[in-house]
Amino acid sequence: MVETVLLVGGGGREHAIARALADSDADLYACAGNRNPGIAAVAEGFETLDSTNPTAVTTYAQEVDATLAVIGPEAALEAGVADALDDAGIYTFGPQEEEARIETDKAFQRRFMKEHDVPGCPDFETFEDMEAACEYVDDYDGDLAIKPAGLTGGKGVRVTGDQITKEEAKEYLRESDYERVVLEERLIGEEFTVQAFVANGELRATPAVQDHKRAYEGDEGPNTGGMGSYSDAGLELPFMSEDDYMEAVDVLRATVDALEGYKGVLYGQFMLTAEGVKVVEFNARFGDPEAMNTLPVLNTDFLDVLVAAREGDSLPKLSFAPKATVCKYAVPDGYPTDPEAGAEVAVDDESVDEAAAGVEGGEGILYYASVDERSDGIYTTTSRSFAVVGVADTIADAETIADDALAGAGEQGLRVRHDIGTADLVQQRIDHVAELRSD
Ligand code: AMP
Ligand code: GLY
Repeated sequence: MVETVLLVGGGGREHAIARALADSDADLYACAGNRNPGIAAVAEGFETLDSTNPTAVTTYAQEVDATLAVIGPEAALEAGVADALDDAGIYTFGPQEEEARIETDKAFQRRFMKEHDVPGCPDFETFEDMEAACEYVDDYDGDLAIKPAGLTGGKGVRVTGDQITKEEAKEYLRESDYERVVLEERLIGEEFTVQAFVANGELRATPAVQDHKRAYEGDEGPNTGGMGSYSDAGLELPFMSEDDYMEAVDVLRATVDALEGYKGVLYGQFMLTAEGVKVVEFNARFGDPEAMNTLPVLNTDFLDVLVAAREGDSLPKLSFAPKATVCKYAVPDGYPTDPEAGAEVAVDDESVDEAAAGVEGGEGILYYASVDERSDGIYTTTSRSFAVVGVADTIADAETIADDALAGAGEQGLRVRHDIGTADLVQQRIDHVAELRSD
């Protein structure tokens, strides 16, 4: 039987999922609020709809006779889109609303870790009364991360001693209209991501990735959804040991053991600290950009994972190409605070291939995100526009591909973090961890 897969979501992450499924023997349909030209090009059909509306998504899934569904964005999970599709008999790789709380409710997430003794949980307290939270800030001996409990697209967290002072933290709490916040110990170290496919109580982990959330080079500026990311040719990153990677996978496994019935991707955001691996957060889906690092090197057929998950079978063992990847997002000038939309996108598949041609054994891939396809071209919107991923034997070669492909972006109303994946930045990370470990 040929499977018909409905993909929900229209960003760079979903373009990566679409490409992985386009390589499989599946009929692919997609739906999202924006028409992603990269996804539309590989799908049999693309419907523009509100992907947080469970009825609209399910109606489309039934129209195309979907036999499977994959959900990319967290907002759709929070809205119960997986519940509605599952109820309609369409197995959905993505957790139901209740299980997605591991991401969508940070207070729940921390309490869950504590209750189930999941390793790597920082000290934390949750507050509904902002004045009580301010008192805690005053009394706490050390720096804190201030985290709204709900979804904020990666932009709601403030860390004292890093981005803001304790006085500013209190102002932030008082001026916010957050219903609940988590205040937790500031973790110091290097961040990394490990994502795993999860179904039927089993977990299959993928290589570690490092994302760069700050808007500007040198990790300056406000937090964003992620400006770019890299992975190495093996499972761990250059600043990590195999044991560090395994410690992170053990955290994911403990989480899956405690979360009954979880299905989809479980994403762990970790901090490698002097005291070992700690959990910054969990997400209930692939990372964006991290999916663009992981899926291009996945040799295992993604469709086989989905079918095994649905059939209640053991998930296939994963195999990855021994290649490093560097992903760089092009974002509109002024992003994330005052983004200027409307620039024409001049980078295309051909120009990316040309950039990769200079690197032996290398490949360049263009992933579209929030762009607007018009009859005369592709234009930027106010969110991340598109990404280029370099795939090569080393991080340095992968970086060259991604950066060369984006060389002209600065003159095109776009901004790129040219430092992501460079030898200098990777070395800084290695030195940072060595310093933490020597203290
Ligand atoms: P989140 O929305 O939970 O991904 O947080 C966004 C960013 O805030 C993370 O990627 C970290 O850089 C930072 N962050 C979150 N929690 C902590 C923490 N406990 N200590 C230090 N930084 C944190
Ligand atoms: N790259 C961070 C995220 O997807 O949440």
